[in-house]
Amino acid sequence: MTDSLTIDRRAEARETPDRRTHPRDVFVEFRDVFKAYGAKKVLSGVNLSVYRGEVLVILGGSGTGKSVTIRHMLGLEAPDSGRILVEDEDITDLPEEELYRVRKKFGMLFQSAALFDSMTVFENIAFPLREHTDLSDEEIARSVEEKLELVSLPGTGHLMPVDLSGGMRKRVGLARSIVLDPKMILYDEPTTGLDPITAQKINELIVDLQTKLNVTSVVVTHDIQSAFTVGDRIAFLNNGVFEWVGAVQAARDADHPQLREFFRSSAVVAAQPTGPG
Ligand SMILES: Nc1ncnc2c1ncn2[C@@H]1O[C@H](COP(=O)(O)OP(=O)(O)OP(=O)(O)O)[C@@H](O)[C@H]1O
Ligand SMILES: [Mg+2]
Repeated sequence: MTDSLTIDRRAEARETPDRRTHPRDVFVEFRDVFKAYGAKKVLSGVNLSVYRGEVLVILGGSGTGKSVTIRHMLGLEAPDSGRILVEDEDITDLPEEELYRVRKKFGMLFQSAALFDSMTVFENIAFPLREHTDLSDEEIARSVEEKLELVSLPGTGHLMPVDLSGGMRKRVGLARSIVLDPKMILYDEPTTGLDPITAQKINELIVDLQTKLNVTSVVVTHDIQSAFTVGDRIAFLNNGVFEWVGAVQAARDADHPQLREFFRSSAVVAAQPTGPG
């Protein structure tokens, strides 16, 4: 426990040696966060800062707690101990009504990117506006079309989800997650299940939205190509803490065996010819 905490602190200290002279604006901060489900310890003293305006990529093996980490940012999970701050506000003990206000700061692209299959693309994207705003139908129509253009799907509002390819579904999910103009976008495995060309287009879209919307982003991924395309920094989750945090450029040469192994095995997987289907 103490060991992993030390690693975590060291990772952050090494990464920002000049923090006191050049303080960076922190959007989300984890302070010593612990979370277990029954006997299963998932987060074991996590310390992490997400800086305003950056794309932070969270890498880590299956079941290490990546999705759990972003669920904590949204207040969908409460830590067993430790604090979570969003724009300097401690959200750890906020009641549910208050958390709604905090959640409006975030757009979330869930791992499944599930759309409502019985609704058109337009209604899928309009849904959060109808739930959370008093906009007129005309304003909603304008907002939905603007978001469809941002994800390069103009004029597709009349389509049904069943008519869409996997990449298009992700784009529609993304349009829906930005429709309330969030300050921060959370992407959980945005390219999983997509072919490499479609995945690369989604990566380019993430970069594009970052500049056009002037947001902060966290991208959870297994996809090394994606990490290197979209990320400013990488945070590697292992043994319940972020054992390595640093600039994307520095990650490949990181002096961290498991992170190196992660890159090595991913490169092998990426180089293998894909099977049928
Ligand atoms: N609500 C829950 N109840 C019980 N266990 C949970 C719950 N949520 C997550 N877990 C467990 O916590 C661990 C971390 O889960 P999490 O979904 O964050 O993994 P992950 O890193 O996102 O993995 P993947 O890459 O497979 O998506 C897993 O062992 C999971 O089974
Ligand atoms: Mg996950």
